[in-house]
Amino acid sequence: MSEERTSSTFFMDTKLPLFANLPHKVRDLSEETVRFGRKEIELALHEMPGLVALREEYSGQNPLEGAKIMGSLHMTIQTAVLIETLTDLGADVRWVSCNIFSTQDHAASATVVGENGTFENHAGVPVYAWKGESLAEYWWCTLQALVWNDGTGPNLILDDGGDATLLIHLGTEYEKSGTIPDPETAESEEFNVVLNILHHVRREKGDNFWHELAKNIRGVSEETTTGVHRLVEREHNGTLLFPGINVNDSVTKSKFDNTFGCRHSLVDAIMRSTDVLISGKKVLVCGYGDVGKGSVESLRGQYARVSITEVDPICALQACMMGLDVVALDDVVCNYDIFVTTTGNKDIIMVSHMMNMKHNAIVCNIGHFDNEIDMAGLEAMRDTGEVEKIEIKPQVHEWKFKNTSHGPNGGGHSIIILAEGRLVNLGCATGHPSLVMSASFTNQTIAQIELHKNAEQYGMNRIANPSATVPTVITLPKHLDEKVARLHLNKFGVKLTSLRKDQADYIGVKVEGPYKPEHYRY
Ligand SMILES: NC(=O)c1ccc[n+]([C@@H]2O[C@H](COP(=O)([O-])OP(=O)(O)OC[C@H]3O[C@@H](n4cnc5c(N)ncnc54)[C@H](O)[C@@H]3O)[C@@H](O)[C@H]2O)c1
Repeated sequence: MSEERTSSTFFMDTKLPLFANLPHKVRDLSEETVRFGRKEIELALHEMPGLVALREEYSGQNPLEGAKIMGSLHMTIQTAVLIETLTDLGADVRWVSCNIFSTQDHAASATVVGENGTFENHAGVPVYAWKGESLAEYWWCTLQALVWNDGTGPNLILDDGGDATLLIHLGTEYEKSGTIPDPETAESEEFNVVLNILHHVRREKGDNFWHELAKNIRGVSEETTTGVHRLVEREHNGTLLFPGINVNDSVTKSKFDNTFGCRHSLVDAIMRSTDVLISGKKVLVCGYGDVGKGSVESLRGQYARVSITEVDPICALQACMMGLDVVALDDVVCNYDIFVTTTGNKDIIMVSHMMNMKHNAIVCNIGHFDNEIDMAGLEAMRDTGEVEKIEIKPQVHEWKFKNTSHGPNGGGHSIIILAEGRLVNLGCATGHPSLVMSASFTNQTIAQIELHKNAEQYGMNRIANPSATVPTVITLPKHLDEKVARLHLNKFGVKLTSLRKDQADYIGVKVEGPYKPEHYRY
């Protein structure tokens, strides 16, 4: 470990130097945990045919040789298979989770030890992630994965929700302006930590750290709806530093993972955390997009009585066609037993709503960030003593209101909040199952290969080339989307019909596809 690369002071509550130069940081590298992780990775591999197919297709070719990929995506078993696919294809990878609660510790440990590693000689990947990080630990981990042990940075980012991309962009923007805002002025606890880490980096590394790091990044592939919104916003306002591939909007990602993944993992999370009977309960799902549709299906599968809220008339009409009531939260908040936010928007369920909910109503979020539910408002009420937070078990909390009168015996009522308002399916369960994630991660792997080969076709890095035009955010072409689907069909014993040439001509496509125009909506 090089002395000058290691900080002498600790970062916030982490008890860790900011530049720790550690080979990894995970919860538990015991034999039992690593073995469990490895067994689950083996099982998952069998359910991830897309990734297996890419390993076979590129066997011996190392298409990612020279790629230094920093990944920020839930450190689960399925992600372990993605990481090992990227390394199998030649990449040099470092990883963090993109959520403080989503890490599966056995997955993180097995990834560090690696398929061919031993307890003495780890042969895996540097992972910085454990379940239940503090916010300071979370951003510390992000920084560790961005800085290789020789002091260099990544040339590609694989992001989920845009946190790694955010840190790099803010770091360079503040270096350029010469001023980092005072953390005390941050609008959220999390942004306070982000500003703190940027101040600490500046104190230790001076005013060129982020420019040096950012100038070598050739592109980012982004996993989720919320992260894509952020990338596109930067593209439009001219601040995007390198090109991005929008993985979310591959059909084989958002129409599968967001919908069918949530259809599996939402009720899994509610059941594991509360064990409450969902059948017959009145459930309100806020947002009826891709995630909302899967969430509704999962709850209806349990015979819950489900209604939705929407702002988009098309989605509202779709809900009507599915026999769902479309209601306004303000009108119905006292009638429902379970609330699920899926909007990717902010301030959906506010404290004023929670004050009027039934006693022991369950509230959770399956969108990306913790601001769909007004957790900041609840914390503020806790500071003034108006509400008490009682831990039932990790990621399951009772919030007991002091000044309401519709609780037991006319006293204050409680609500149950899952995963502290963060992604419930990853905080309280294990996220989506392998087969769905295989489709998402096959898109991710193809996107990384494309960026490694051709990133500059989508725009030059603007730190290295200040006069270049703003890089673009693209989606993968449809023939690759169809390829991802095709790679998963055997698993289901599917026999596709082959299009005849005269039929292909009649509908205006090629025999080998793509079979739909770009604007087709599936
Ligand atoms: N938990 C998971 O595993 C998982 C998986 C994929 C995506 N996500 C996240 O879930 C969120 C939603 O993703 P999506 O792909 O469904 O997006 P989407 O755009 O398809 O759906 C969101 C819907 O919410 C509606 N909406 C917006 N503001 C609203 C409001 N104030 N009230 C009611 N409805 C409102 C929109 O009209 C839209 O129909 C994003 O944050 C995404 O990153 C989570």
